[in-house]
Amino acid sequence: MTLFDAFRFDGKRVLVVGGATGMGAAAAELAQAAGAEVIVADYAEVTLPGAKAIHVNLADAASIDTAVEQLGGPVHALLSAAGVADGTPGIERINFIGHRYLIDRLLAGGLLPRGSAIGFISSAAGLGWEANLPLLKEYLAITDFDAATKWAVEHGKADYMWSKQAVCAYVATQAMPLLKQGIRINAICPGPTDTPLAQTNKETWLGFGADYRAELGIEAATPLEQAYPLLFLVSDAASAINGITIVTDSGYFSAGLTEVFPTATPIVRFLSGR
Ligand SMILES: NC(=O)c1ccc[n+]([C@@H]2O[C@H](COP(=O)([O-])OP(=O)(O)OC[C@H]3O[C@@H](n4cnc5c(N)ncnc54)[C@H](O)[C@@H]3O)[C@@H](O)[C@H]2O)c1
Repeated sequence: MTLFDAFRFDGKRVLVVGGATGMGAAAAELAQAAGAEVIVADYAEVTLPGAKAIHVNLADAASIDTAVEQLGGPVHALLSAAGVADGTPGIERINFIGHRYLIDRLLAGGLLPRGSAIGFISSAAGLGWEANLPLLKEYLAITDFDAATKWAVEHGKADYMWSKQAVCAYVATQAMPLLKQGIRINAICPGPTDTPLAQTNKETWLGFGADYRAELGIEAATPLEQAYPLLFLVSDAASAINGITIVTDSGYFSAGLTEVFPTATPIVRFLSGR
């Protein structure tokens, strides 16, 4: 035993939802390297050697029920990584409602023991959640899968930005009630990261902040660079961190907010609802 063991996952089971590709896949591999037994639940084929693979469609509650039945034991760290871009049918379920439903099923089944932790991947697109908190709380109060889906569609909120704001608000509002059960919840809010999803939407996703990165001489983040803080958040080393959405964007948001990089200021003000 060393002091540094709090960063490791020996003897722990880590479930990565959306771990077939991109940041989730990087986090799954990293968790294995940190000693974890890794289970990957995804819609796509899982290729990570040594990981248990479970098929799940987050847009479908019955599919999530079936996936949870296949877990075969407790989950000490849940990484809620799956997400899709605007234009994907069911985005409100895949990016938020399905993840929350899965967490509720794990809680109901006693599968998230005391000491476990949840790490979401939200997005810089979700950072305006505080300005929208009253409406987000109205939405979050609808915990039924179909009723929440209906609300999002009927209110014109079945979109990427709202789904990520919902994740941030969910993380913040659940910090206290979950910790009563010994469970922590946090999120990362990545800036542009070079993943299959970003490549499919290259102009908007990887074009975002390109001027900032050019001035600094840096590239968009790699999936592994996002996996490091995500896995840290669900490690015992982060036991004092709860209810927080960490911006992992190489400083773009801060530079825009403070007008240190004025070109970013209007978009950052828009995204943060200020
Ligand atoms: N790449 C970026 O620039 C960026 C920036 C901010 C936030 N994000 C977020 O990061 C997360 C990871 O995305 P990524 O960029 O690694 O992309 P990705 O496409 O590589 O990973 C997303 C994963 O989600 C899975 N998935 C999609 N639909 C699903 C469904 N219906 N049921 C179950 N799984 C499903 C995919 O199969 C894939 O494995 C997403 O939540 C995304 O919104 C990405």
